[in-house]
Amino acid sequence: MLADKHILLIVGGGIAAFKTLDLVRRLRDRGARVTPVLTQAGAAFVTPLSLSALSAAKVYQDLFDLTDEAEMGHIELSRAADLIVVAPATADLMAKMAAGLANDLATTLLLATDTQVLVAPSMNVRMWDHPATQRNIAALKGDGVLFVGPNEGEMACGEYGPGRLADVSEIVTAVDAALSDGPLKGRHVLVTSGPTHEPIDPVRYIANRSSGAQGTAIARALAALGADVTFITGPADVPPPLGVRVVKIQTAREMLAAVQAAPLAVVAVFAAAVADWHVANAGQSKIKKDGAGLPTLEFAENPDILATISQLAQGRPQLVIGFAAETDDVIAHATAKRKRKGCDWIIANDVSPATGIMGGTENAVTLITDDGAEEWPRMSKDAVAAALAKRIAGAIA
Ligand code: C5P
Repeated sequence: MLADKHILLIVGGGIAAFKTLDLVRRLRDRGARVTPVLTQAGAAFVTPLSLSALSAAKVYQDLFDLTDEAEMGHIELSRAADLIVVAPATADLMAKMAAGLANDLATTLLLATDTQVLVAPSMNVRMWDHPATQRNIAALKGDGVLFVGPNEGEMACGEYGPGRLADVSEIVTAVDAALSDGPLKGRHVLVTSGPTHEPIDPVRYIANRSSGAQGTAIARALAALGADVTFITGPADVPPPLGVRVVKIQTAREMLAAVQAAPLAVVAVFAAAVADWHVANAGQSKIKKDGAGLPTLEFAENPDILATISQLAQGRPQLVIGFAAETDDVIAHATAKRKRKGCDWIIANDVSPATGIMGGTENAVTLITDDGAEEWPRMSKDAVAAALAKRIAGAIA
């Protein structure tokens, strides 16, 4: 959470500026106070009135506004915040920052400040790729400026590539990480969660009863300790937590690809209920009841994501944690599973229908490590998540 945190939000002039209106709301929802600064170019895309209404604060625009200087000088404005966020950061604004120019309110604040700065770039792909922009980014990173995004995708101008403003949830995650003083501050952690859906044809699929509640709670608990969380989730019943980088997938194979594409993580928690098989002969079009008999589904094994990552020769997270949902001989099966997959810890739980754990709000788990099996009392999934996050922080400290 961002309670009592004060964020100075500099809104540059880009088509993505409208997204900062949502960003203001999301930051305020998390308890932050947001003071917007609108550049002249930014004002061509969003109005000061919208920013002011959503932030419930005065919007600063002009360096030479005497009223502002009487109320709060620009030096004070630049230093009163806990974090300065520049979103969208245009190529022009980053060039000025890198060169130390100060010819308007935003650039003057950025030059006068000793507060941490986080920039969320947004621009056309050619501008992003230009050596001048890349030089400026390297210079800003060297100065200790933090970056979030840009993402790759289709741009407003119709071109495709890196340059899209990071999603609002990703910017919130980066703000959380920058402002956190928890034990996992700035450490990158990966969490998989939810079920996978394995298509039979374009309208039917094979799934399981995982709600995603435990994985979501773990991601939230890790983020609360300051971790920079990449949350890779199948179609879950519960919404993803705020303040984490969310990657949505459908199938096990997509989940593996997303895990492999994520930045290197120090800890990986595989809480997803991944389907063991996919339909090898899935229909490209809807399978019809055409009287020719019942369809036969052929299955093929899915990649084991936990085992793949546990057994990486290079880039293996320091701590890899798997889950073992079992219905009988829980500890024996889970202990064998830890060995077989090569992970460091296994969280074992009994998911027999009588326990009400699958899809429920409580969990009763046993933590299996090198030191043996440690049974935890039955508690809420949130409490399990908080206890696990604490153990993780202690283990990688
Ligand atoms: O083999 P089993 O499905 O019981 O293993 C459970 C653990 O392995 C969980 O941590 C789950 O997220 C992970 N897993 C995986 N990829 C699979 C199957 C399971 O990552 N294909």
